[in-house]
Amino acid sequence: MSTYDEIIVDLADRRYPVYVGEGLLGSIDSMIPDGVSKIAIVTQEDIGILPELRLPSQIFYIGDGEQAKSLSTIGQLCSGFAKMGINRRDLVLAIGGGVVSDTAGFAAASFHRGMRYGIIATTLLAQVDAAIGGKTGVNIPEGKNLVGAFWQPSFVVCELSALSTLPERERKCGFGEMAKYAFLGAEGLDRLPLRSQISACAKIKASFVEEDEREGDKRALLNYGHTLAHAIEAVGFSDPRVNLKHGEAVAIGVIFAALLAQKLGRIDQARVDYHRRVVSSYGLRTELPAGIDLERLIAAMFKDKKSFGTLTFILDGSSGVEVVRDVDASLVRAVLTEFATQA
Ligand SMILES: NC(=O)c1ccc[n+]([C@@H]2O[C@H](COP(=O)([O-])OP(=O)(O)OC[C@H]3O[C@@H](n4cnc5c(N)ncnc54)[C@H](O)[C@@H]3O)[C@@H](O)[C@H]2O)c1
Repeated sequence: MSTYDEIIVDLADRRYPVYVGEGLLGSIDSMIPDGVSKIAIVTQEDIGILPELRLPSQIFYIGDGEQAKSLSTIGQLCSGFAKMGINRRDLVLAIGGGVVSDTAGFAAASFHRGMRYGIIATTLLAQVDAAIGGKTGVNIPEGKNLVGAFWQPSFVVCELSALSTLPERERKCGFGEMAKYAFLGAEGLDRLPLRSQISACAKIKASFVEEDEREGDKRALLNYGHTLAHAIEAVGFSDPRVNLKHGEAVAIGVIFAALLAQKLGRIDQARVDYHRRVVSSYGLRTELPAGIDLERLIAAMFKDKKSFGTLTFILDGSSGVEVVRDVDASLVRAVLTEFATQA
């Protein structure tokens, strides 16, 4: 194996390594858990990363984008797994970004009521976030990630050379998730080499997951910026003017969270400016898409998984970011309206 960082997600008997480095694809065989006799590889056609494996394998291609993260894809994968004849001890190997790892992970969690799976994360966003922590799931027309399971992988590989073919826009999406880590204990990340940045994010994610695997309030902090981001994505499902990817929506969500926190007296203008500086330093946009329907955004935010009938946000404050429940909808509307005028 070449030089790499190893971060352990320590969940007792379900602990697993996250490897971050270059040249790791030649070592996948050594990571396959004992007892596996067949491997179902789940990936997308354009990714073009298929490591040589000692064990027999079959490739299952899924579609591209959020539409592919669906229950119908889960049905197709599970039928394919059944026809291939994999059993509970075999392995599902996800190779791709967050769409592949979320979908393949949920298929692995569901088929035979739970199979082992490994992830080769090939986008920056998956390497700093989506591949780590065992949140798997798919979208339904009513919202993002509404159907899923907590199901931890056996290993995660963050192969840096994979990022060389990543389109610039996708790279920036990774920076969107990275930007949030600046408010979760990783300031000054952008001054580090990329491998150290990814490892630092993976360490933070691992520590949050270890403390709160099933997302009580602690792990929910990783959703900084996501209440609005998921709403933007949900509106984008049916409004072609809202053409934003997940990481881009998170960047805008982080700015909105800062403005809302300011309105609630939790942070001052200097801290809002700092949010803008961090997000802008990654070359990400900080405004809402022009013309987006604000009432649809608010309705979508009420459906957020953190909300139980009222609006819930992760907000910065004097003791750092925390979950803030029961935020007044009219205040949210006022801040959104003001935010929208900056578009
Ligand atoms: N489970 C979690 O904890 C978690 C956390 C954050 C985000 N997510 C989810 O992750 C998804 C977004 O993930 P993403 O940003 O990785 O998007 P993605 O998986 O859609 O990948 C983006 C694009 O890059 C392509 N691609 C992947 N690897 C490539 C490579 N090495 N070279 C060239 N092209 C490549 C893909 O085919 C796709 O077209 C969202 O659905 C989001 O909800 C999940």
